[in-house]
Amino acid sequence: MSDVLAFAGVTVRRGANTLLDDVYWDVEEGQRWVILGPNGAGKTTLLQVAATRMHPTSGVAGILGEVLGAVDVFELRPRIGLSSAALAERIPRGELVRDVVVTASYGQIGRWRENYESLDHDRATELLEAIGAAHLADRTFGTLSEGERKRVQIARALMTDPELLLLDEPAAGLDLGGREDLVARLSAIAADIYAPALVLVTHHVEEIPPNFTDVLLIREGRIVAQGPIEVTLTEENLGETFGMPLELNKHGDRYSARARQGGDHGMA
Ligand SMILES: Nc1ncnc2c1ncn2[C@@H]1O[C@H](COP(=O)(O)OP(=O)(O)O)[C@@H](O)[C@H]1O
Ligand SMILES: [Mg+2]
Repeated sequence: MSDVLAFAGVTVRRGANTLLDDVYWDVEEGQRWVILGPNGAGKTTLLQVAATRMHPTSGVAGILGEVLGAVDVFELRPRIGLSSAALAERIPRGELVRDVVVTASYGQIGRWRENYESLDHDRATELLEAIGAAHLADRTFGTLSEGERKRVQIARALMTDPELLLLDEPAAGLDLGGREDLVARLSAIAADIYAPALVLVTHHVEEIPPNFTDVLLIREGRIVAQGPIEVTLTEENLGETFGMPLELNKHGDRYSARARQGGDHGMA
């Protein structure tokens, strides 16, 4: 299994709820995926399984050549970068930005940490520079704007040089300028051939960064469609995913969507 992710029949149940229903999904090296779906569709659950934070009730979740349940998750986790609102809430507000980034490496480096400490700090500085947040290094996390926090979280998620980067709604809560800045930065990461495989969760087509390659559309725990963005992101698939007739527009390398106007309530 050389895929980054190889999910076969992945199902997650909690009580009477089926959060993910028979998901087959492969992510390969170099791919940049967008996961699109309405609230409650199962997007975060899908990312939690990919991040080894949740196990399937049934099915097989192949992650970086290992099978979840048959591998020590603490060996896999440093190979996976994750940015989510839940993780951000656990960052102490008084922590310095440079420490927020550098501490991501402690899990991996463990007892060798002392030897590598200055290398770690150099890497944290480089990552902050790359995402346009170097000037924030000596601020405390609590004093940052929402957009600045999102950038710092992404730098932190990249600290262990992961093979897979998972971003759960990184644009949520950003103003227009913050969103556009983030989309441009994610687009630049996506264009970098040395960047890890990327999976970005959103519920807005406006947030799909240029250079992303594939899309997975999900509704009520089931995959509606998946594949290369140009052929998979259609009005019909998007309408089915969000449960309403939608008009989808492409402007250069960006998308926008809105409810279909007028008396036409059929799917395009
Ligand atoms: N621990 C849980 N027990 C029961 N239901 C849950 C649990 N966690 C999430 N859910 C439900 O599963 C569905 C999918 O949740 P989630 O993956 O967070 O969706 P999304 O990220 O797409 O908004 C939602 O309806 C949510 O309420
Ligand atoms: Mg979610």
